Amino acid sequence: MPHILIVGANGQLGQALAARFASSAKLTCWTRPRYDIADPSIATAVAAARPDVLINAAAWTDVDGAEDAPNFAFAVNALGPKYLAEACAQCGAALVQISTNEVFAGVEGRFYHEYEQTAPGSVYARSKAAGEHAAASVLDRLYIVRVAWLYGAGGSNFPAKISAAADRHGALRVVSDEYGNPTCASDVAAAIAQLVETQRFGVYHFVNEGFASRYDWAVELMRLTERESLPVTPICAHDWPRKTAPPPHAVLVNQAGAALGITLPHWRDALRKHVRTEYKRYIGS
Ligand SMILES: NC(=O)c1ccc[n+]([C@@H]2O[C@H](COP(=O)([O-])OP(=O)(O)OC[C@H]3O[C@@H](n4cnc5c(N)ncnc54)[C@H](OP(=O)(O)O)[C@@H]3O)[C@@H](O)[C@H]2O)c1
Repeated sequence: MPHILIVGANGQLGQALAARFASSAKLTCWTRPRYDIADPSIATAVAAARPDVLINAAAWTDVDGAEDAPNFAFAVNALGPKYLAEACAQCGAALVQISTNEVFAGVEGRFYHEYEQTAPGSVYARSKAAGEHAAASVLDRLYIVRVAWLYGAGGSNFPAKISAAADRHGALRVVSDEYGNPTCASDVAAAIAQLVETQRFGVYHFVNEGFASRYDWAVELMRLTERESLPVTPICAHDWPRKTAPPPHAVLVNQAGAALGITLPHWRDALRKHVRTEYKRYIGS
């Protein structure tokens, strides 16, 4: 059995990975504060643990908050992966570094394959792009896995926030000119489990098939949770002021994974499955 070390094991993806590898690997799960990837001594701990594969699911994920704390965001998202990659190089481990669709400019109408040029805009996006480069500069045995619009069991994510807002207000206003790939964490975990068996290092886009606007995503969630009569009004991104302007169309294409036979279900099917376990109370009531 391979020894898999998951860092950031309490996050949405970290939990999905821990569940996915529970029975197929010797599993070690690290969480904060004991294991802080922004602390250079993390490298010593990794080298001592000697994993076969380290999966870094830890990150500063507060996109708007990063604008006010760029040094902290870079410490976690750029220096963290560097320390982990250095440790992997030292002990011969492979690293799976999780990154984001936000490393792309997200130009309207564009679809981003793994080979496209990155052009990160926000502090968060630049810190994640810096993490990709930092890891790649010290480690060959590296998988960079970009994901997008992630949701998982129990997480604080778009479906959870939209569902709570629907209950609170009885109506929703949702941005209809921002597009992405709604992606279920358990599908990403399953894809990563396949990927690490291939030893085909490089850049991957693991997102559920298809794409959607946030409005499409909210409407589908209301339909699946039997609240289709609740009014959902489409609005423009500029009517929903944020500290950062997210890329309008950072839609990823899984070309490299699909070429190896690693594909993820369509986002509508993934959401239906998620709703069956996470939103039981709405169904059939
Ligand atoms: N969520 C999305 O929509 C999305 C989209 C694209 C890409 N991604 C990327 O996907 C990955 C997983 O995201 P997620 O949604 O699972 O994130 P998440 O739920 O916010 O989990 C992130 C985890 O990282 C941990 N963490 C933060 N700073 C740390 C540090 N200095 N040392 C160690 N652990 C630290 C957090 O610990 P605590 O539990 O203590 O807070 C948390 O458990 C990240 O790389 C993220 O950038 C996410």
